[in-house]
Amino acid sequence: MGAAAPLSAPRALVLWAALGAAAHIGPAPDPEDWWSYKDNLQGNFVPGPPFWGLVNAAWSLCAVGKRQSPVDVELKRVLYDPFLPPLRLSTGGEKLRGTLYNTGRHVSFLPAARPVVNVSGGPLLYSHRLSELRLLFGARDGAGSEHQINHQGFSAEVQLIHFNQELYGNLSAASRGPNGLAILSLFVNVAGSSNPFLSRLLNRDTITRISYKNDAYFLQDLSLELLFPESFGFITYQGSLSTPPCSETVTWILIDRALNITSLQWMVPPMVAETPH
Ligand SMILES: *[C@@H]1O[C@H](CO)[C@@H](O)[C@H](O)[C@H]1NC(C)=O
Ligand SMILES: *[C@@H]1O[C@H](CO)[C@@H](O)[C@H](O)[C@H]1NC(C)=O
Ligand SMILES: *[C@@H]1O[C@H](CO)[C@@H](O)[C@H](O)[C@H]1NC(C)=O
Repeated sequence: MGAAAPLSAPRALVLWAALGAAAHIGPAPDPEDWWSYKDNLQGNFVPGPPFWGLVNAAWSLCAVGKRQSPVDVELKRVLYDPFLPPLRLSTGGEKLRGTLYNTGRHVSFLPAARPVVNVSGGPLLYSHRLSELRLLFGARDGAGSEHQINHQGFSAEVQLIHFNQELYGNLSAASRGPNGLAILSLFVNVAGSSNPFLSRLLNRDTITRISYKNDAYFLQDLSLELLFPESFGFITYQGSLSTPPCSETVTWILIDRALNITSLQWMVPPMVAETPH
């Protein structure tokens, strides 16, 4: 546990075929939404990571920020902090429900307003409320995560995005202020067994219901506890949103034990995933 030095900033590239399936002349793109993980979508220029900081003045941190995420964590440069308290995750014992949503860039699970899921402890000085669970994956095994450990990527990364509910009323206000967000990342490998929580979210039947951008599918009776390994440590550092506007207000908490899922292959069609780097 401790600070990990940002060494390089690979960005996981997750693109869905449906995103650009119908290239057509339409209204001018919303400048707040005019970004991608890849510069070229179906022949149209859409700014990829190297351009994010250049195309929108509000996103300048993407280019000039000094605490940009993701990072490649070099374990030999991580310091152990024996005084960090344990992380506290709380669902109030209730099952989760919410909407699985194809954002056009990610598979997201958006929890319903109740029950509130909180995280506190560890490096967090405030209680943070879960706002989104985001899945990033790549077309190749070992190349879907945003963060890397010792230059090694993982097949996927699950990001639990929380906002500081003691200082802010919602995610967008928190993402513009200090101590705004806490993101817990879990890394995923393709292996012989499947994490039960991810199996509920990402089985073929569920995923085929959100094949296209803006498709949504309601899920309930989810036990978030089942997402986490039985025991784990974590690596924490102060970083940024890994998407525009790249605000440097995120306490990242990277869980040090990877999860398994039997396959991500069936997620590729109809969703095209790009490999990072
Ligand atoms: C989450 O935190 C809020 C504010 O601190 C608190 O009111 C609520 O009881 C907490 N919920 C759970 C399930 O811990
Ligand atoms: C978020 O909070 C801010 C400041 O409290 C408020 O102005 C804004 O309307 C809220 N946004 C949403 C989407 O609720
Ligand atoms: C993931 O799979 C690997 C290899 O099959 C195994 O050693 C490991 O214990 C599994 N991890 C979990 C959390 O089940």
